[in-house]
Amino acid sequence: MRKPVIAGNWKMYKTIAETVDFIEKIKPVAAKAEHCEVVVAPPFTALAAAALAAKGSNVGVSAQDIHWDKEGAHTGDIAPAMLVDAGCTHVIIGHSERRHDHGETDEQVNRKLKAALAAGLAPIVCVGEILADRESGRTGEVLKTQFEGGLAGLTPSEFSRIIIAYEPVWAIGTGRTATPEMAADTHRLLRDLARQKFGEKEASAVRILYGGSVKPDNVGGLMAQEEIDGALVGGASLKVDSFTALINYPRK
Ligand code: 13P
Repeated sequence: MRKPVIAGNWKMYKTIAETVDFIEKIKPVAAKAEHCEVVVAPPFTALAAAALAAKGSNVGVSAQDIHWDKEGAHTGDIAPAMLVDAGCTHVIIGHSERRHDHGETDEQVNRKLKAALAAGLAPIVCVGEILADRESGRTGEVLKTQFEGGLAGLTPSEFSRIIIAYEPVWAIGTGRTATPEMAADTHRLLRDLARQKFGEKEASAVRILYGGSVKPDNVGGLMAQEEIDGALVGGASLKVDSFTALINYPRK
């Protein structure tokens, strides 16, 4: 039984005060939500305050990126131990906005992933194809490359600590969601890759979240798919009401 994860990726939004206020408001909602894990990913500046506000609750706090080195001359980057020090439980790695805005490669994703695991963080590793790949029938090939490159060298037990997020780039912030069936098909493909690389037990246990224009009005259809183990949500995670509705997605 895979416990679903509802995660809000706040990207470059929210001050410290807004972050604390938001977490205070969702804590009671998360406390009642035994059906899923709740995670928020504020910007770096608000992480320590977020972790303090979330302390003792079941709201996980995620960073949006990580550097692989323990420390060093890397202006603007944040080391794994710094995220742990700030109180993070999770870290998003390889988001398409990092891949596209900062040219992040699968090899860098892999180094970040290993560093996050070594620091005891739960990595949320993002993969996803661009529209041209989808339209030219290259989705499977692109995801295989990202999966194999990003997750290279992991042991099955390390793999069992990660969460995968499938985020088709064409669905992010566009209002254009993959249909539940389309997302589920792609999740099956990712789970097959996991099976080949890490084995049946690990593949059937790994949580694969869908991300890309998830909203309160489409989350039910997505979550009804056996293959979809949660959502990584951008825009609709920024308001308490809509994030609350996502946490309490329609269930049978
Ligand atoms: P939207 O939900 O705004 O499409 O963003 C998805 C996303 O990128 C989450 O990481």
